Amino acid sequence: MQHGSCPKILVSFGTRPEAIKMFPVVHALKADGAFDTRVVVTAQHREMLDQVLQMTEIVPDVDLDLMQEGQSLDALSSRIITRFGSVLDVERPDRVLVHGDTLTAMMVSLACYFRKIPVGHVEAGLRSGNIYSPWPEELNRKVTAIIADLHFAPTQRARQALLAETIADENIFVTGNTVVDALLETRRHVIANPALASAIEPLLKRFEGKRIVAVTAHRRENFGEGLTAIAKALAKLAQRDDIAIIFPVHPNPAVRKAMRPLLEGIHNIALIEPLDYPNFVRMLDASELILTDSGGIQEEAPSFQTPVLIMRETTERPEAIEAGTARLVGTSEAAILAAANQLLDNKHDFEAMASKVNPFGDGTAAQKIVGILRERHLPQVGSSRVRVDATPQVNLTFRTSAA
Ligand code: UD1
Ligand code: UDP
Repeated sequence: MQHGSCPKILVSFGTRPEAIKMFPVVHALKADGAFDTRVVVTAQHREMLDQVLQMTEIVPDVDLDLMQEGQSLDALSSRIITRFGSVLDVERPDRVLVHGDTLTAMMVSLACYFRKIPVGHVEAGLRSGNIYSPWPEELNRKVTAIIADLHFAPTQRARQALLAETIADENIFVTGNTVVDALLETRRHVIANPALASAIEPLLKRFEGKRIVAVTAHRRENFGEGLTAIAKALAKLAQRDDIAIIFPVHPNPAVRKAMRPLLEGIHNIALIEPLDYPNFVRMLDASELILTDSGGIQEEAPSFQTPVLIMRETTERPEAIEAGTARLVGTSEAAILAAANQLLDNKHDFEAMASKVNPFGDGTAAQKIVGILRERHLPQVGSSRVRVDATPQVNLTFRTSAA
């Protein structure tokens, strides 16, 4: 330990989903008080990252502000490793925490490896088994796993995947996914202060009486044919009079270029800007069906009793399918349309997919991660003194009356 008696933990992230899934860890570390907690963001995303930082009142110690419009994987990678490396040289942390499968996670891990700084990997062990789907995320997380010495796996299945890659059992900890912590905490705040999620209300009012279908799509492996097929399926689905589609469109120019020409101007489709997390949670709560290629939304959906159709060829989150809340439908126009229509028309089938038990966690993942960090960095103190109020109380009965 280089900094007196207080280990310095540097928490890094760069995109919206990483920020959503890491804010509970930042809050728990700061509440615990045993660490010198520093937050360094690559800002691989800008506005979407800022939405989360604002909501969670996290002010990064360093903001590298790296996003450029239409950034390429190689240019972004080189910016991250160079700039983050310089931060490490100044900060010299005892440990860096990275999240998941983004370029930020992989390049920050590499910068740490070059300096022999230990890396803790939050959301470790997700695998599709195909390095081109999701692309480039499958490789990003495999490289991160090779470097990390602490692996916070969300589920037993993720632990098994790491064991199969010869990661030592004593370095793997099944904690649940911090997205459940984030979701429960956000719901708690929205209940206490409904104004937090009021921005979406005019749209929900406009579509009153319709069944809301929530949509998101952004995966790079779907660019081109896949996104076009998704857009065409949505246009056909919107011919149903009983539904309205709300689609917060990812700002990646490739996504907007694919969606706008085919979906703009359809009366029951709202293409909107990305929603901040409280409004997105409110929108999911009001939805009857979710069509998505997002990873995080697959993990959140079991808490909403809302069926999900996954518009991807593979998933590294089969737990959602096993729990019955999600179905993998692929990216062909006909398959998406058929699966959506079937669920909307078959009440029995629909209700069979509603689930209340979230297989990805119980809202205590961040607390567990802090306990493990204590054992690793403060063995003389141990985990018994982790403050019990570090994780906020959760309210599992949230479901707004309009839903
Ligand atoms: C990235 C991650 C992906 C993750 C996704 C979550 C990689 C390679 N990809 O994909 O794993 O699932 O984030 O959303 O790490 N943009 C903005 N404003 C923003 C964010 C993005 O304008 O706030 C635009 C920019 O033009 C940017 C482009 O989107 O260049 C792509 O961003 P990038 O982070 O490279 O890829 P994503 O597709 O967002
Ligand atoms: N999300 C959000 N606003 C939106 C769309 C998504 O807050 O308009 C949240 C969503 O609830 C989930 C996360 O963003 O927690 C998922 O991000 P994304 O789909 O971009 O990335 P992935 O999870 O696929 O990496």
